[in-house]
Amino acid sequence: MKSLPWIHCTLGLLLLCTADADSGRKPNFVFMMVDDLGIGDLGCYGNTTLRTPNIDRLALDGVKLTHHIAAAPLCTPSRAAFLTGRYPIRSGMAAHGRMGVFLFSASSGGLPQEEITFAKAVKVQGYSTAVIGKWHLGLNCEDSADHCHHPTSHGFDYFYGTIMTHLRDCQPGHGSVLYFVHGYIPYKALSIGLVSLALLHIKGMITVTRRVVFGFLVLVGVVVSLFGVLVYTFPNLNCFVMRGTEIVEQPYTSENLTQRMTSEAIEFLERNSERPFLLFFSFLQVHTGLFASPLFRGRSQHGLYGDAVMEVDWSVGQIMQTLERLNLKENTLVYMTSDQGPHLEEISIHGEMHGGYSGIYKAGKSTNWEGGIRIPGILRWPGVLPAGKVIDEPTSNMDIFPTVLNLAGASIPSDRVIDGHDLLPLLQGQVERSEHEFMFHYCNAQLNAVRWHPPNSNAIWKAFFFTPDFYPENSSTCFHTHICLCIKPYVTFHDPPLLYDLSKDPTESTPLSPDTEPQFYSVLEVIRAAASRHAESLKPVPVQVSLQQIAWKPWLQPCCSSLSQLCTCERDHQIEKLRNELRKE
Ligand SMILES: *[C@@H]1O[C@H](CO)[C@@H](O)[C@H](O)[C@H]1NC(C)=O
Ligand SMILES: *[C@@H]1O[C@H](CO)[C@@H](O)[C@H](O)[C@H]1NC(C)=O
Ligand SMILES: *[C@@H]1O[C@H](CO)[C@@H](O)[C@H](O)[C@H]1NC(C)=O
Repeated sequence: MKSLPWIHCTLGLLLLCTADADSGRKPNFVFMMVDDLGIGDLGCYGNTTLRTPNIDRLALDGVKLTHHIAAAPLCTPSRAAFLTGRYPIRSGMAAHGRMGVFLFSASSGGLPQEEITFAKAVKVQGYSTAVIGKWHLGLNCEDSADHCHHPTSHGFDYFYGTIMTHLRDCQPGHGSVLYFVHGYIPYKALSIGLVSLALLHIKGMITVTRRVVFGFLVLVGVVVSLFGVLVYTFPNLNCFVMRGTEIVEQPYTSENLTQRMTSEAIEFLERNSERPFLLFFSFLQVHTGLFASPLFRGRSQHGLYGDAVMEVDWSVGQIMQTLERLNLKENTLVYMTSDQGPHLEEISIHGEMHGGYSGIYKAGKSTNWEGGIRIPGILRWPGVLPAGKVIDEPTSNMDIFPTVLNLAGASIPSDRVIDGHDLLPLLQGQVERSEHEFMFHYCNAQLNAVRWHPPNSNAIWKAFFFTPDFYPENSSTCFHTHICLCIKPYVTFHDPPLLYDLSKDPTESTPLSPDTEPQFYSVLEVIRAAASRHAESLKPVPVQVSLQQIAWKPWLQPCCSSLSQLCTCERDHQIEKLRNELRKE
């Protein structure tokens, strides 16, 4: 029996060798991550009304993962984990407070220099590396141009994209996500204070001088105007496009932005077709504020959201065509995914649902219900990976890190814990089981749930220590907040934990009890022990997403023109104009 895996392994290696021998070089990597895309938005994952032919084609030609899990249910931590193969808590990219992502380009937190990204690891193996699109992992530390957290400080030779996430605020006429800040302004207390002062004054109980009233009004005025300034300047200060470390568009126009990024990606492939490369294409779509180029607007049956998904699909098609045209298809590992589940709470200012669909799974982004972390995962490498294979074993977006390092001939760092596992043996069928026996699901820095896939069993247990208060009876969302929060009083704690067996109840509809599940207590015991072993493996690190680190710091503010011009510029457009004029002459 022992020799069987060995034979498979040799076969796998042979396949690898032939693929390598064909071109006599290391494989290339093209990774595509869509922002906030739901697993239920894609044809190949069961959507029958939204057309995604290019992504579906990828799944037909490669391996489709149906139990692919994001390391975190939010952008910043999920991306940090993807790039480093480690749970975000290990790099300090998990927040202890309410806000789990960066909101301002002038924050000081970000992916720490000590972290090793897959780009950094393959760069020293001779790879040319690029990230095109959204970064969202920090920018500066001490001044407005030290770029300590910039992609070029993390192993990417080339960057064209945005430091921040795309937001409604980046899009004129779409409102502002900053309105949640309203919640922090104590309007009620202020007005009660003002009315009480007036009443007491009228009744003659106190004498309120005009000065006190005036002072009070000024205070209210200052708070409200500061908020106004924040909303008004937000696009200029946070919605900009960089090429390398230079700002080329501030604020950017989202119309045609995906088209421009697609051209950038194609040009990168063309420039590097003669050497090994790694391209990480990180779409701004389909995060709100939604946008789609004129070519795609109105083309789907699902409003602007569907149009945006169709534009992403078109872009994936363009990249795939380019690989084919440059004869790179056979020697390139393609990976397509989303950073986490869809944003179900996102309602546009016109009241339309602006988030995606998580299929049969419960809830979405920012929760650790399956809908928040079950993401599409498609891998294609003709001749090396089987075509049309579907794998339902638990896998993680952290698995890309060790997979890439092994394929590129880089050694896996031994001075730190790597939580991902090399996917190749599973993808090629050399092994049947995923190496992920346990998975730990964090909501920011709180351990929220644990998944256990015991060896020799088909069960996939999932135990929740607490759950966000969301309301399946009214559209499965956390209505009272912009996203589900994982702090008191927005969660319910469970003791004993809520236990599900996902192999029988993938929609997490009915929690088990000692009556319905004889193994109830023994399963929870194993899970608790695993959680404490995991906790022991954590080392204290500086928190990058603390309030202090994510706060707006004026001295870190990147700005491409003088302040009097309100940080606006259109370098790329100016260059294009110049070029056109030169052509005419
Ligand atoms: C397809 O995706 C759209 C957009 O998210 C969603 O509204 C719709 O319910 C999905 N349809 C199916 C049949 O899954
Ligand atoms: C976007 O591209 C279309 C052509 O596809 C063009 O008509 C339109 O003017 C472009 N929009 C912007 C803002 O550049
Ligand atoms: C959603 O359901 C909860 C629980 O039934 C209820 O308290 C809440 O008011 C509902 N919200 C909306 C917007 O209907």
